[in-house]
Amino acid sequence: MVQTSTSLANGVRDEPPTPDFDCYPCTVAARDARVEGDLVRIEWDDGVVSRFHLLWLRDNAADEDTLNPVTREQTLDISTLPAELHAASARIDPTGALAVHWLPEDRTVRYHQGWLRAFDYSNDALEWGRLPDAEPWTPASLPAPLDFDGPGFLERDEVLGEALGAVLAHGIARLRGVPTEPGTVGRVARRIGPIRETNFGLLFDVRAKPDADSNAYTTLELLPHTDLPTREYEPGLQLLHCLENTARGGRAVMVDGLAVAGDIRREAPEHWHALTTIAWNFSNRARDTDYRFRSPIIVLDDRGEVAELRVNNFLRAPLSAPFDVVEAAYAGLLELQSRLRDERYRMTFDYRPGDLVVFDNRRVLHGREAFDQSGGARWLQGCYLERDELRSRWRVLARARRRETLRQS
Ligand code: OGA
Ligand code: ZN
Repeated sequence: MVQTSTSLANGVRDEPPTPDFDCYPCTVAARDARVEGDLVRIEWDDGVVSRFHLLWLRDNAADEDTLNPVTREQTLDISTLPAELHAASARIDPTGALAVHWLPEDRTVRYHQGWLRAFDYSNDALEWGRLPDAEPWTPASLPAPLDFDGPGFLERDEVLGEALGAVLAHGIARLRGVPTEPGTVGRVARRIGPIRETNFGLLFDVRAKPDADSNAYTTLELLPHTDLPTREYEPGLQLLHCLENTARGGRAVMVDGLAVAGDIRREAPEHWHALTTIAWNFSNRARDTDYRFRSPIIVLDDRGEVAELRVNNFLRAPLSAPFDVVEAAYAGLLELQSRLRDERYRMTFDYRPGDLVVFDNRRVLHGREAFDQSGGARWLQGCYLERDELRSRWRVLARARRRETLRQS
């Protein structure tokens, strides 16, 4: 019998390892297990019965013949397993682990019960890697972004985790009191993950400049928009840090694209259809770059839910759709744009130096009112990251919290 190494997964001796670095507290104990044909059946103390296919269990073993214990990535190619693979026995061992004796390999592999419960696909356990649910909002339910302490975000994982949870739920959070030294937005971003560089730089300065290469770098109003729909892959997160704001006007406007899209879906199905199916063109117009992308304004995922929005009045290029859909395309666009001016959806606030908003650029549309710099100045510094960085950082922090709770219990 090959005994797997002592688990590092939960930091508890004699627990079997899991095929990852996550932490799976055992909230319910497994009572009994047995082989039933091509399945292993487990009964839990709360009466739940789980069923796992033998091939699934063998594939997901966390022993050293299946994965590399250093990386916890698979080394086994299941196509090399004996065709007559079967389980001679399955039982709950004295440590609470599931022990399966595999034939003809003739060895026992132990499985972590908390991990089995987390992956119990026979009971639709889809908790794996689960993130806080997105909660669509309007200013009636969320009048301002949730605020978090800027220095705390930089120094304390607890604040970081809470703020990132708010970004996952609302698509936006605001840090206050972030030092107004230029470049600090980069430090804030790196607390989450690597910055996505673009032609506007690793960090970009949002202020009116004489030879602007974007309407963003003027004093003009910006209708709520997503940045860079001109790219195949829109940046997932955007950070904007206010360094200076003594100009008149320039109030921030934020709109939850999920809420607007949801309302259009319910209230105006024909416009929903146009917005989700007719591709628009987006292009930047600049002397030495030429980014273009073509996509519907509301992009759906494989379950028909909103994956992202691509909305930007100043980066929208001439429509080149089939002749017969042009009217529907414009009707859909007008429906959307009139909602972007509707106070029901618009969260507005003034930036104070030291404020830093973190928002999901593919969900929350951001804009501003026009401003006048004759008696002052307005300077924001920003950068982009991917949604992946937000999700990964949040999961790692959640994992550490679970481990800490387990250590204390
Ligand atoms: C931008 C932008 C918002 C603002 O730079 O893309 O939308 O408040 N700026 O200036
Ligand atoms: Zn923008």
